[in-house]
Amino acid sequence: MKSETQKKILLSGAKPSGELHIGNYIGAVKQWVALQETHETFVPIVDLHALTEPQDPAKLREQIIATAADYVALGLDPAKAAIFLQSAVPEHTQLMWILNTLTSVGDLERMVVYKEKITEGKQALAGLFTYPVLMAADILLYKPTVVPVGEDQRQHVELTRTLAHKFNKRFGQTFPIPKELHPEAGKKILSLQDPTKKMSKSHSSLSYIAIADSSEKIRQKIKSAVTDSGNAIKHDPITKPAISNLITIYHAFSGKEIKQIEKDFTNTNYKNFKEALAEVVIEKLKPIQEKRKDLLEHKQKLIDILEEGAEKANAKASETLREVYSKVGLM
Ligand code: TYM
Repeated sequence: MKSETQKKILLSGAKPSGELHIGNYIGAVKQWVALQETHETFVPIVDLHALTEPQDPAKLREQIIATAADYVALGLDPAKAAIFLQSAVPEHTQLMWILNTLTSVGDLERMVVYKEKITEGKQALAGLFTYPVLMAADILLYKPTVVPVGEDQRQHVELTRTLAHKFNKRFGQTFPIPKELHPEAGKKILSLQDPTKKMSKSHSSLSYIAIADSSEKIRQKIKSAVTDSGNAIKHDPITKPAISNLITIYHAFSGKEIKQIEKDFTNTNYKNFKEALAEVVIEKLKPIQEKRKDLLEHKQKLIDILEEGAEKANAKASETLREVYSKVGLM
C-alpha cells in the first residue's frame, strides 16, 4: 500500500454563491477534471463559505444544486471524484476551530480578498474575516498534495501552509504542506467589462459568461466586451489586457496554442475575432449545458451523488480530525 505522502490527493472547491462562470472553469474546474484521472479527488461545494455574504435561503438551495449540476456537467466524474457539500461533513468546522486557535489576527488582516470586500462596501463580519481559516480546514482535512485554484486564492493557500507548519511544529508531523496549482494560461480571467478586475459573479452580469448562458447571451456579452486601442489580435497582457484575456479564453476553449491563434487572426480585426470566439465558447458549452439541464431535471440523481461523495469525504475527514484531536490533547 502507498504511504500517505506518496499518494496524490487533490482538494479544491467553489462557492455556490451564484452561477459558475468561465473564469471558475478555466482557472479551477478544468484542472480538477484533468487531475481526477491521477489523483484521489475531493471537490466540495463550499456552501458554508457562501454564507459569509447575505444569501436568500431558497435561492441558495437552488444555487447549491445548480453548482452540483455544473460540476458533473463540466466533467467531474462521481466515480472518480468525491463531490459533496461542505456542510455535510461537520469536520470542516470542527478543524476550523482548532486552526482558529493557531491563526494570528494580523495574518487575517493581510488577506487581500477580505480587504477588497470591505472596500466594496461589504460588512466587516467575523465570518468574512475568518473565512480563510475555514478554507485552510477544508484543505488540511484531506491532506492534499495539490490545490488547483485561480490566482485570487493563492494567498489563502499560503495561509493554509503557514497553519500546517505551525500545527506540525507544535504537535508533531501531521499535515503534508499543500501546494496551489494554477493553469499555465488563465489563472486570472478578467472581467469582460473591466480588464483591471477579475471575472466575478459579484460584478454585473455582462462582465462574466455563466456556464449556463444561452448562445444569444454569450454572443451579446462577447460583442460588448471592452477592447484595447488598436486592432491587432496580439497576446500582450501588460499593454493589451482586454484582447489578451479574450485570446486566453479562446485558447482554453479551443485547445489551440496562443501563438497559433495570433497567426490565424493576423489579418483580421477585433469584431471578427470576437465573433469567432463566441462560436468557440458556444460550441464547447453546448453539450455541457445539455448535460446540466438533464441533471437538473433529475435532482434525485444529484442528491445521490452528493450523499455518496459526503460518505467518501467523511471517511477521510473523520480520520484526520481524530488524529488532530488526539494530538492537541482532547479526549
Ligand atoms: P470561488 O468560488 O470564488 O471560485 C472557485 C474557483 O474558481 C477560481 N476563479 C477564477 N480563476 C480564474 N479567473 C477568475 N476570474 C476566477 N474567478 C474564480 C477561484 O480561484 C477558485 O479556485 N475561497 C474559494 C473557495 C474555497 C476553496 C476551498 C478553494 C473554499 N475552500 C478550499 C480551494 C480549496 C472561493 O471563493 O472560490
